[in-house]
Amino acid sequence: MKAKIVLLPGDGIGPEVVREAVRVLDTIAGRYSHQWDYQECLMGGCSIDRFGSSLTDETLADCQAADAVLLGAVGGPKWDDPAAKDRPERGLLALRKGLGVFANLRPVKVHPALIDSSPLKPEKLRGVDILVIRELTGGLYFGWPKGRDRKDGRERAVDTLEYYDYEVRRVIELAFDLAKGRQRRLTSVDKANVLESSRLWRQIAVEVGAANPEIALEHVLVDTAAMRLITGPAALDVVVTENMFGDILTDEASVLAGSMGMLPSASLGQGRVGLYEPIHGSAPDIAGKGIANPIGMILSTAMLLRHSLALEAEAAAIEQAVDATISGGARTADLGGSLGTTGMADEIIGRL
Ligand code: IPM
Ligand code: MG
Repeated sequence: MKAKIVLLPGDGIGPEVVREAVRVLDTIAGRYSHQWDYQECLMGGCSIDRFGSSLTDETLADCQAADAVLLGAVGGPKWDDPAAKDRPERGLLALRKGLGVFANLRPVKVHPALIDSSPLKPEKLRGVDILVIRELTGGLYFGWPKGRDRKDGRERAVDTLEYYDYEVRRVIELAFDLAKGRQRRLTSVDKANVLESSRLWRQIAVEVGAANPEIALEHVLVDTAAMRLITGPAALDVVVTENMFGDILTDEASVLAGSMGMLPSASLGQGRVGLYEPIHGSAPDIAGKGIANPIGMILSTAMLLRHSLALEAEAAAIEQAVDATISGGARTADLGGSLGTTGMADEIIGRL
């Protein structure tokens, strides 16, 4: 197979982990006779520095024309000025919107050998295998109006939580589909006791649920969901929720896996192009030191092969190599070990 993959290393530790992901993809290409045509572009803070924009039209067009986009991380203290016209995060949001990737899949699996890396009690962690599906192109992140003004002599700030029925329906339908390939349990998270948008969300979840009786559907309020993620994570299978709730809950869920550095994500839409990124950020405190955990990024390449290129065997090979590497005791600093970014990738590549 031939595929065009756009690389957006971005800022902070992004370039360090993307470099290792490319080595993994190249190893897969060699083993299975595929050919990847890479194109590297700037996005985020580095793009602001170079072009004065966190995402240029050219970069977005290149991403839209690719089979898949692999993103490291964006952001850092250098671009954190609240008065700045552009921010690295704006580029990321514009990319998600521009690619139409409305569903962000964030699998959270606890490797048995990493149970002690999590601050949670071991008995809570056994058997945890959750797929969180976060709506990614709507809600508070994109709703209009948004901004600052003065009203009644006061400074005011406004964000809008807006959802159209079709935006809710398509992500919930995808969640039902994905639940069919798992344990057939779906938890829809909302705040229907307070928010109108959540009442629409729940109404549509009930409708889609009626058409999919083989899936056990439950509705959980987001505050309760935050608690259950910690008190009973093993009871969760597939979780679907709106953009902001999903952002918050997946950082919380990453604690289960022992380190945020472990977790990949895939952002999918109706279109062909998927966006693949680890859920960790640019980690400016450790950038340039070569100690970042590359596993979240490497597992994101497995998701890329599976979801954008339908290469299931290749995806599974990467996941098994990561599993075996962890079982074998390899650990980066975030997991209490001393392996560097390249050292960890070497361990994984050696098992491919
Ligand atoms: C994430 C991040 C982003 C988000 C930031 C960097 C804009 O936290 O992917 O979870 O909030 O979506
Ligand atoms: Mg986040």
